[in-house]
Amino acid sequence: MEKTFLMVKPDGVQRNLIGEIVSRFEKKGFKLVGAKLMVIPQSLAEKHYGEHKDKPFFGELVDFITSGPVFAMVWEGEEVIATARKMMGTTKPQDAAPGTIRGDFGVTVGKNVIHGSDSPESAEKEINLFFDQSEQSDYEKDN
Ligand code: CMP
Repeated sequence: MEKTFLMVKPDGVQRNLIGEIVSRFEKKGFKLVGAKLMVIPQSLAEKHYGEHKDKPFFGELVDFITSGPVFAMVWEGEEVIATARKMMGTTKPQDAAPGTIRGDFGVTVGKNVIHGSDSPESAEKEINLFFDQSEQSDYEKDN
C-alpha cells in the first residue's frame, strides 16, 4: 500500500489547522500511520528541501520551516501520494481551487500551510528522513 509524507507547516500549526487538516485526510479514508509535533533542525530542513538549494528562496524556505513546530505525518492508502496533492491544492494558494487545503487556508507561496510528497521517490525519502520504523504503526483499519 502506498504511503506519503505530509506536514502541517509552522503557519498551519500557529493558525490551529492541525485538526482540520488531519480530519480531511481521515474523512477521505486514508490511514494515519505516524505523526509528531516537532521543531525541524536546520540540517534536516536542508536535506528535506535539498532539491531547492539553488533557488533564490532557499534560505527563506529553510528559515520558515525551522521557525516553529510542524506537525509531521505519514499517511497510507491507495494512490495517497497523488490524491493528497489534489486535496492540498496548487503550491501558490492564490491559484489553489476552493475546497483544497491551500485554496481554503493558504496565504502566500511561502506560507502555504502544508507540504506533501510529490512522487513515490520523494515520499520514501521524506518518510525516512522524518520517521524511524518504530514511529510508524502497522494496524488494520476498516474502510
Ligand atoms: P513545498 O510543497 O513545501 O515545497 C517547496 C516549497 O517552496 C513550497 O512548498 C513553497 O512553500 C516554497 N516556495 C516555492 N516558491 C517560493 C517562493 N518564490 N518564495 C518562497 N517560497 C517558495
